[in-house]
Amino acid sequence: MTDETAVRRDRFTGGPARSFLSSLAADRRLFAADLAVDRAHVVMLAEQEIIGDETAGAILGALAEIEAAGHEALPEGEDVHEAIETAVIDLIGPDGGRMHTARSRNDEVATCIRYRLREDVLGLCERLCTAREQLQAIAVDERETVMPGYTHRQSAQPTTVAHWALSYEAALARNTERLFDAYDRLNRSPLGAAAFAGTPFPIDRERTADLLGFDGLVENATDAVSARDFLLEVAAALATTAVTVSGLATDGIELASRGLVALDDDYASTSSIMPQKKNPDTLELARARVGDASGAVNAVLTTLAGLPRAYNRDLQRVTTQFWEAIDETGPAVEVAVGAIATADWPADRLAEAAGEGFATATGVADRLAMAGLPFRTAHEIVAEAAAAADGTPDVATILDAVAAHDVDPDEDALAAALSPTGSVTMRDSRGGPAPAAVTASLDRATARLERDRGLVTDRRQQLEQAATRLSTEVDRYA
Ligand code: ARG
Repeated sequence: MTDETAVRRDRFTGGPARSFLSSLAADRRLFAADLAVDRAHVVMLAEQEIIGDETAGAILGALAEIEAAGHEALPEGEDVHEAIETAVIDLIGPDGGRMHTARSRNDEVATCIRYRLREDVLGLCERLCTAREQLQAIAVDERETVMPGYTHRQSAQPTTVAHWALSYEAALARNTERLFDAYDRLNRSPLGAAAFAGTPFPIDRERTADLLGFDGLVENATDAVSARDFLLEVAAALATTAVTVSGLATDGIELASRGLVALDDDYASTSSIMPQKKNPDTLELARARVGDASGAVNAVLTTLAGLPRAYNRDLQRVTTQFWEAIDETGPAVEVAVGAIATADWPADRLAEAAGEGFATATGVADRLAMAGLPFRTAHEIVAEAAAAADGTPDVATILDAVAAHDVDPDEDALAAALSPTGSVTMRDSRGGPAPAAVTASLDRATARLERDRGLVTDRRQQLEQAATRLSTEVDRYA
């Protein structure tokens, strides 16, 4: 084909800003999406008799060739949308230009981003589910393994490894829910909005939405091409997930530094000079991904802020800023949780550390309050006993301190409360660390996980069924 038939090749031929304008490299990610969007649009145009069946068949045939040749084979272009259109025209001549009837790159790119992002979000949801399953498995294995719990980085109360692990599992479950919420809003089709003001052609927007597996439309044509708030929502969910991971990583790093957890060699690194070192670099690198994710929130937010209606090219930059964050968050979850899931928990050292600094004091005060003292009085008595013992008091010292009060606490119960294991066992309130309470929490967590896995499967099936519908329609024109 001659140059005149290619997309606007006679204008904007080059110049120093050419590569600055182009998103073609980053658009590799949208290659498959653009082909699907083109196919759905062409099928709809033919069904609506906006283009002839023969033209539709020729365009669809060209798209198949372009797909087989791959993104790398595309001609130069400002972006993947323009390059694919140029390639179609190169292959079949000016009739290829009918593909762009009743649409604009503005609705096209918005549709492609949403189309592609669905897959990324579902992939991340699946990863989060796997991570939750690994944390639940720790909870099953380490239900009775007591460990120190901290507030303000000071020894506070004994807990268990299971209870600690489930605290992160619960946070990851909420992160999964955030992604599902964002998914339901992002899975709407902007296609057919054209530049921002609709089209005079008798298009069928519901039809293209259905062929592409969308749940509905972004109705208003100007909103459809302008909206990128779905990117902001997903970026926020990524950042929240990265924050969760960073907390888990820091706990792991600190526990490892005190010899309270032993990371598997697969997740550790060595020093180039200090021969004895085993460093938790994987957890540090996972923790650092919070920088990538929060960077994306800032980038998307500040780039979107103040953009006027309708389409502005700033939006191209928002997309490239965003992709990196979603690519970095999944591996951070996988590696951080993998490091914790394969680690060894030294039960004896953990139990010893769990009792340090009179961490069982609260349980002793609870026992005195259960014997009838106001909790505040019990709190003071236990503090006095600790001062008298210069550390963790024994039962006799506690009984001495309580002697002036008209209560008769059970000595065995006090002795149990003084031990880290007994201290954990008595805290059996819903959501507490007692093994029985953890068992009940685990049941709820596994049910929630199964539900979320089902949601991923359902959504994937919906997308696969749409892809099948689309390829069946495309085959009619072969
Ligand atoms: N590559 C562009 C993007 O990502 C596609 C839309 C270009 N539209 C336009 N009117 N210049 O946003």
